[in-house]
Amino acid sequence: LNLAVIYGGTSPERDVSLVSGKEALAALDQNRYTLFEYDPKDGLDALVRDAEKLDAALILLHGSPGEDGTIQGLLDLLKIPYQGSGVLGSAIAMNKELSKKLYTDAGLPTPEAVQVRKGEPFDPAATVARLGLPLFVKPACGGSSLGMFRVSEEQELAGAVTQSLAYDETVVIEAFIDGPEVTCGVIGNEEPKALPVIEIIPEGDSPYFDYEAKYTPGATTEICPARISDALTARVMELAERAHRALHLKGYSRTDMMIKGDEIFLLETNTIPGMTRTSLLPRAAKVAGFSFSALLDRLIELALE
Ligand code: DAL
Ligand code: MG
Repeated sequence: LNLAVIYGGTSPERDVSLVSGKEALAALDQNRYTLFEYDPKDGLDALVRDAEKLDAALILLHGSPGEDGTIQGLLDLLKIPYQGSGVLGSAIAMNKELSKKLYTDAGLPTPEAVQVRKGEPFDPAATVARLGLPLFVKPACGGSSLGMFRVSEEQELAGAVTQSLAYDETVVIEAFIDGPEVTCGVIGNEEPKALPVIEIIPEGDSPYFDYEAKYTPGATTEICPARISDALTARVMELAERAHRALHLKGYSRTDMMIKGDEIFLLETNTIPGMTRTSLLPRAAKVAGFSFSALLDRLIELALE
């Protein structure tokens, strides 16, 4: 099978994508696949030239552009099947404002939030009165916590919004949920099924699961299965499956959530979750009995269904 592996790219998550791409390339069975590598940073001429001979693509671009439906659209036009969600689902899931609207429509709980658009008036005092402190400021289409700020004083809010607006034209200000973070992957086409739940514990200086906690070895402890009750585990898994459907996703996804008491809140759903051997979704897959290379095989199989 001639497989295109697309990674790198030009989003703020380029470095994460380079690691996902390299590790996936090392894990893919060379007897099964003839591998072709593409980095959109170098242009896409080579991919377009090779389109005829490519049987499938593995997209390992994180963030925008790439995870957001843009590369999916190009591959659709070139008639190359790829793993995971299509244009619509990818674009929706990349955008936290739209995702939260669709979660809410589907009856899925998500922290209360206020949107701010570049150039439009914004009232920090009213926002704090509504959402409380601390709160999180996030670019609508960000990833890996880049451009994201935890704000604990009202006077810091305007500055955080301005900085976050450098990443996107819309910023989502979200109420803080004080509880453990968990994440839950989902795999399958017709009946996507949840993987075991992972509990995320940032260690040391990170007050939450920020970029450093995500990518510094040893900065986070991840426990799978999560140390939560069976009832909560079942609800997290059900919410991950429902979020996958609510956002029009396909193949696989990973939904990040916060737990407060016995309430669960959805933060976001990732359509191209980190794909290094020690990334969250591969770790959960391992607990479910899939090695890293078996997981990659399964994703490609689902792409070809
Ligand atoms: N955005 C990163 C890659 C993740 O969610 O795993
Ligand atoms: Mg993310």
